[in-house]
Amino acid sequence: MKPDIFNEEKIYFLNTYNRIPIDFSHGEGVHLVAKDGTRYLDFFSGLAVNSLGYNHPKINEAISRQIHRFLHLSNFFISDVQIEFAKKLLQVAGMSKIFLSNSGTEAVEGAIKAVRKLNGPDKTIFSFTNSFHGRTDGALSLTAKAKYKNDFKPLLPNTATINFNDIEDLRAKINKNTAAIFIEFIQGEGGINEVSPEFIDVLFALKNKYDFAVIADCIQTGIGRTGKPFAFNYYDVKPDIVLVAKSVGGGLPLGAMMTTGKFDEAFLPGSHGSTFGGNPVSCAAGLVVLKEVFENSLVDEVAEKGNYLKNELNELQKLFPGKILDIRGKGFMIGVEMSKQCTSLVEEMRKRKVLTNCTNQNILRLLPPFITSKEEIDYFLYSFHETLKIL
Ligand SMILES: Cc1ncc(COP(=O)(O)O)c(C=O)c1O
Repeated sequence: MKPDIFNEEKIYFLNTYNRIPIDFSHGEGVHLVAKDGTRYLDFFSGLAVNSLGYNHPKINEAISRQIHRFLHLSNFFISDVQIEFAKKLLQVAGMSKIFLSNSGTEAVEGAIKAVRKLNGPDKTIFSFTNSFHGRTDGALSLTAKAKYKNDFKPLLPNTATINFNDIEDLRAKINKNTAAIFIEFIQGEGGINEVSPEFIDVLFALKNKYDFAVIADCIQTGIGRTGKPFAFNYYDVKPDIVLVAKSVGGGLPLGAMMTTGKFDEAFLPGSHGSTFGGNPVSCAAGLVVLKEVFENSLVDEVAEKGNYLKNELNELQKLFPGKILDIRGKGFMIGVEMSKQCTSLVEEMRKRKVLTNCTNQNILRLLPPFITSKEEIDYFLYSFHETLKIL
């Protein structure tokens, strides 16, 4: 008898994930195909990772070329593929130096170290209510949600929280002892909450006064996901450090911390590093992502199709005002605030062969791959409409 992978998972794996009971065979474009042949429209793309969908021919071609050269090269060496990737990413971000990591959390950890080294470990690093920056001790110190951090205290000293979009709280807490503020310009895990332009104005005015660092965590919002290269591009500001991961590797583990100004000189050999960070196969995939998104105008398509999706969702809200409370977000990062917990909505959508995600209890989070077509959006909208009728 064939082993049941879901039972085996319970036996062998630490209990960190609630796995969805589908056994996939492979992915194709915007679809995941189960071993029984069922095709699912994937509207959360590996949690904002599979930016070009599955089995993208250009990614496959680039990584096949790279695997015949070398899979790994120690960071004692530099490779052409890392350089090409780094130059392109820095150019899009308008930043000057880069450190390559394997994940978002590692990019966050790098930024915490840079800030503590240059702005002083005794000064306070702030993040915001509902923020998510990762689960290692440093990153977890900045992740606001009690459910993630309470079992692991004490965490990093001199870290604190400001109420998101609360200008009064911001003014009350920021002073000359502030080292840095970590901010998601659109909060992902926290429920697709957009920071207000007024809040950003005050934040950057205070930055001018007290000279703390602003770290833009674009791990979920970056690389075109919101219809602009980075979510902070919706505001006329320049952060000191920009963090990316998720979409940038197109499905392979890759992250980056990008700096400008004094942070360009934050590290010396030995003060930071990673064995696998900037893996050449990941960089080869990343390079394809950057070319497709920024040179083949996928970012503009995300903006345009994201507007279409949001407008259609607004129409649906008019039909179901008691069920849909709000539609938020930009591009292909949309949150639909439901009046109730959305776990059963996600399950019902899955029965209709559409994969979505529920975050922060009642926010249906939509993070489709950038290659999603208008027809695929229409299929999602049809399934959502039918589901709303019966819920
Ligand atoms: C805004 C943000 N920061 C950091 C992280 C952590 O990234 P990773 O899971 O790649 O370590 C995430 C992951 O969801 C995120 O959304």
